[in-house]
Amino acid sequence: MGAKAAKVGLVTLFSLAEGGYHAAQLPNRQQATRSSSARIVNLDVVVKPDTVKPQKAVEEVPEYMKSKRNMYPSKCDVMDQIEDFVQEQIDAGILLDQEKAWQPSDFLPDSQGPMEEWFDEIREIRKVHEEIPDDLLLVLIGDMVTEEALPTYLTLLNTLEGTDDPTGAVDTAWGRWSRQWTSEENRHGDLLNRYLYLGGRVNMRAIEQTIMRLISSGFDPDTRCDPYRGFIYTSFQERATKISHGNVGKLLGNCGDKWGAKICARIAGDEARHEKAYQMFVQRVLELDPDGAMISYADMMKKQIVMPAELMSDGRNPNLYNDFARVATDLNVYTGIDYADIMDHLNTFWKIDQVRVTAPEAVEAQEYLMKLPTRYRKLAERGQKTLAKNPREPIEWSWLNDRKC
Ligand SMILES: [Fe+2]
Ligand SMILES: [Fe+2]
Repeated sequence: MGAKAAKVGLVTLFSLAEGGYHAAQLPNRQQATRSSSARIVNLDVVVKPDTVKPQKAVEEVPEYMKSKRNMYPSKCDVMDQIEDFVQEQIDAGILLDQEKAWQPSDFLPDSQGPMEEWFDEIREIRKVHEEIPDDLLLVLIGDMVTEEALPTYLTLLNTLEGTDDPTGAVDTAWGRWSRQWTSEENRHGDLLNRYLYLGGRVNMRAIEQTIMRLISSGFDPDTRCDPYRGFIYTSFQERATKISHGNVGKLLGNCGDKWGAKICARIAGDEARHEKAYQMFVQRVLELDPDGAMISYADMMKKQIVMPAELMSDGRNPNLYNDFARVATDLNVYTGIDYADIMDHLNTFWKIDQVRVTAPEAVEAQEYLMKLPTRYRKLAERGQKTLAKNPREPIEWSWLNDRKC
């Protein structure tokens, strides 16, 4: 039994031997259900509750369960080396404990409570929403639409070689990361959507159509299945969403919307954890493959980071995304200066100036990256001045029942 018991894994099977539940461990769920011989072998194995930490099983998994690694085998090896670190971060709480995690209903009127209280709270939300200016509503809507296109972002994660989830339920730290991350993100769109619905000031049907079109259009951030590029992108993007939600929350608070302020602050808190995680993953990549990571980072920044909702459409305004982005800029929710600040932050967090690179292309990339925040800041400041001279022309917004803003 000792030898069999030593061959322990990640999933427990129940054995009815001796009239009770005894854990016989198998390498993973797929093998537990697929392999009848494994089940027979393990049914007569009785393992006492763990006193010693089980050895990690080294099992050869079938080809179809392996992550894709066609174009970037060496980068996939690097991502393999980071996998234990990713699991350590998950275990240490970088993602929420699913039992304790906040849920959208925690921030909304309690539909299970006394009916009059529920109506009172909805009346209060509707009253508060009357005081929210249309431009702020537009930014809140745009942020919600962006969150609601979550299927697109999980698709993106699963294009990345070496960190993808080839079965949809693969038992790896990278697979667990992307699924748990998605489960956290899923609450953001849900909560904002319900909140805007209760406020009664926006055309939910037009917004829902926009979401449907955005998911249908997809999104290509030019990550090219490359995990380095993918996680550089998410490092940037999570910080951008944190800034945006945080600023919208403050503005809502300023116009007396305590509900919205709390909601946006809580979502921004999630984004803050996510940005930290992705930035730590890239930090490990920089340690293991400084040349490769530096070149990928520079290349991503040369093309500029595209925003995930850039293909949004309400079916009639061909410039919907740009118009939304302009409103966000005018309200100082997310501007070109923020873009430069994010670059600055990433360079500092990753200590780009201290990374030891050797290949000439990587040295060139490093020099380019170090100059970039200052360059972007100058460009952004110039851009802000140009915008200030050219005020936005009000247009009709389908999201606002054709109100002009
Ligand atoms: Fe989010
Ligand atoms: Fe996030």
